[in-house]
Amino acid sequence: MNLPTICVIDDHQDIRNALVEMLHLADYAAVAFASAEDALKTLDRSWQGIVICDIRMPKMDGFELLAALQTLDSDLPVILITGHGDVQMALSAIRSGAYDFIEKPFRREHLLEVVRRGLDKRQLVSENRQLKDTIAAQYKEKIIGHSTAINGLKEKITRLAKADVNTLICGETGTGKELAARSLHEQSDRNKGPFVAINCAALPESMMEAELFGYEAGAFTDAKKARIGKFEYAHQGTIFLDEVESIPLSLAVKILRVLQERQIERLGSNQSINIDIRVIAATKSDLKQLSEQGAFREDLYYRLNVVELHLPPLRQRDQDIVLLFRYFVSQASSRFNIVAPDLSLHVIDTLMQHGWPGNVRELINVAERFVLTDTLIDQRSLANWQSDSSRSSLPNRLEHYEKRLIEEALSQAQGSIKRTYQGLGIARKTLYDKLAKYGLDRHRFMDD
Ligand SMILES: Nc1ncnc2c1ncn2[C@@H]1O[C@H](COP(=O)(O)OP(=O)(O)OP(=O)(O)O)[C@@H](O)[C@H]1O
Ligand SMILES: [Mg+2]
Repeated sequence: MNLPTICVIDDHQDIRNALVEMLHLADYAAVAFASAEDALKTLDRSWQGIVICDIRMPKMDGFELLAALQTLDSDLPVILITGHGDVQMALSAIRSGAYDFIEKPFRREHLLEVVRRGLDKRQLVSENRQLKDTIAAQYKEKIIGHSTAINGLKEKITRLAKADVNTLICGETGTGKELAARSLHEQSDRNKGPFVAINCAALPESMMEAELFGYEAGAFTDAKKARIGKFEYAHQGTIFLDEVESIPLSLAVKILRVLQERQIERLGSNQSINIDIRVIAATKSDLKQLSEQGAFREDLYYRLNVVELHLPPLRQRDQDIVLLFRYFVSQASSRFNIVAPDLSLHVIDTLMQHGWPGNVRELINVAERFVLTDTLIDQRSLANWQSDSSRSSLPNRLEHYEKRLIEEALSQAQGSIKRTYQGLGIARKTLYDKLAKYGLDRHRFMDD
């Protein structure tokens, strides 16, 4: 791990040496450079310490270095060294974003005090960043599943998170659209900023406009006090427009303007406010089709859909069903403080046969009911699934089902052949035949 180190930059060797000595005597680690250019080769965002830099230097001066460092990392404290009595210069240094300044000749106590504060601030920033990184990693972990579809989705989210472009997330109800949106935000450079979600179907048109844009006092009868809107609130973060298909056509024009101009005006005000946001929209509908039919503004559709994430329904990733179920069962059992019932083959069988029209959300409900009552899906929804003609013939279904049972047994046995055939009550050879038939590789089920 990097130790906090103070980077000292001055073209005069005696001043460099004096500073470094003072810092060393106070038990700080310090390195010195004779020019800003040299220092820039070493400094980066991960620099744990702070920078002390002379203003007047022959080539790149202190102000230029300050500007360069602010682009590199605006949270890196830079302390500038000013000549005696150069108040004007010191003030303009602070205005340009310097953390503080110290005057020549240095007063030891003052120097050490400024350094200590600067280092404290830097440490806080580092800790925050680490926390954010952990949260980002957790968010990545939070999307559960090993199916090809989910692995692909997770990779795509990580890639798109950095791209900072408007994104449209499509998928049936309960497939994890909001989870994907949060994950995009948490893994992006905007994760320091807010994630602001708004459900476009939940509010009447008039209120929605006020919610999104905010208003000044007196903008309408009930507007007693000014209120900041969701767009403004999401500044430097992400706004999540859920059920975006419900945006009324009249409001769509105004939202389109925000996306194009990155500016808003509160209701009852003519003043434009710049906003820096990433827009993620989610829909259960086919937005392209709606826009072709004139039910959704086509230009808004193209603005929102710079990239598209598609969340597959659970029935198309049945490899993940039992995994997700186990996860939600364990969550429910610790939440309710109840020991979860065993997952018998019958339970797994029922889960695999179900069509999951409510997707992951439905699965969560079923897992909770299972923990609380030891019952699964009611007969009616099961019957619905059985009448679903999109499923294939009985022999195909049996094979499909057999493959899933073997996968499940392998997963429980963590890839051990012996425990798998014993668990399934079949002969070793039968298991090998079936692994070959279904193209299953037991290594895939071993713990890393
Ligand atoms: N792959 C997954 N791993 C873990 N949890 C998931 C996954 N997918 C969805 N969930 C969970 O399922 C629930 C529903 O997901 P979410 O709210 O993101 O779905 P949605 O697509 O926004 O649904 P709706 O269209 O109904 O608003 C949430 O509790 C979410 O955390
Ligand atoms: Mg949702």
